[in-house]
Amino acid sequence: MNHKLTAQPALIDPFGRTVNYLRISVTDRCNLRCVYCMAEDMIFLPREQLLSLEEIETIAKAFVGLGVNKIRLTGGEPMVRKGIVGLCEKLSSLDGLNELVMTTNGVLLDQHANDLAKAGVKRLNISLDSLQAKRVKQITRHGQLADVLSGIEAAGNAGFERIKLNVVVLAGVNDDEVIDLAEFALVRGFDISFIEEMPLGEISSHKRKDTQVASLSLAQRLAEKFDFEPENNLDLNSNQLSNKGPSRYQKVSGYTGRIGFISPMTDNFCSRCNRVRLTSEGKLLLCLGNEHSMDLREIVRDNTNAEVDLPIAIRDAITRKPEKHHFDANKTDIIRFMNMTGG
Ligand code: 5AD
Ligand code: SF4
Repeated sequence: MNHKLTAQPALIDPFGRTVNYLRISVTDRCNLRCVYCMAEDMIFLPREQLLSLEEIETIAKAFVGLGVNKIRLTGGEPMVRKGIVGLCEKLSSLDGLNELVMTTNGVLLDQHANDLAKAGVKRLNISLDSLQAKRVKQITRHGQLADVLSGIEAAGNAGFERIKLNVVVLAGVNDDEVIDLAEFALVRGFDISFIEEMPLGEISSHKRKDTQVASLSLAQRLAEKFDFEPENNLDLNSNQLSNKGPSRYQKVSGYTGRIGFISPMTDNFCSRCNRVRLTSEGKLLLCLGNEHSMDLREIVRDNTNAEVDLPIAIRDAITRKPEKHHFDANKTDIIRFMNMTGG
């Protein structure tokens, strides 16, 4: 069959944005409890509420048929889901998918990095908020820096196309480490992104308004230490950190890795949004900062006609993708925790 002839038109939302990127949370569970992501005591979903691996595959296939060419697996921690490597093999072989990537906390990478690379995962994002063991323990509640570092090393040797470290920057907690962290990433040929904390889920450990750090101030500090290449120089003098295009990466002279900034609080990047998210229980979220969702589990579960019904439901959902998020660090508007949503 010539699939070009049967291919459906791309997913385009009412604001003209093409949705070609799906993030899938494969589990809400995690072996860590990062303070910005989870409460200390979390109640996780009962097993039967989670999408099965087959249901995830069916939904992913429907999206790829609608023009989605990039899928990211997230959690919780994706590697605590049994059968994750097999799922990666299935997804990476979907016709039309260019990139299968994963976000992980790195703790289990020592065991799984090679298998994931072999299963077709092209790139990894690994969380690393500090290079100090005591702080890692404080931020993640359960994590050991040594485990994450050996996971990162294993990933570095496993042949992924790119590795990126993710740092959620919290004032008074790890904001004094941004240069050390950037250096750590760059000398290994990795990218690194500094992320502004988002008010998702009611947390107990800190008040988010006290820990906000604007990306612009980080970029200015990093530019004193590293030689930011001029061709895509971020405008450090403007009051908004923006380099116009969708990419917020900065090339650095002398290194292959780049420094990125993800600024949900200070730069509304929604006009460049190309993604939707599937939660571990099968809700399709149209926007991280809005509660709008559509239940896709109901459509795939015990439905022999899912292949026909899913594309219709997905198209319908995309017509309701909100224009933008409205985050306010003083309030938790979104009750969902990040582990439900997929980081
Ligand atoms: N704000 C910003 N980033 C978050 N993450 C988790 N919770 C938050 C939050 N409240 C990030 C983690 C990791 C990914 C899973 O999501 O750092 O990179
Ligand atoms: Fe787990 Fe990632 Fe959330 Fe930390 S941020 S608790 S590693 S899901």
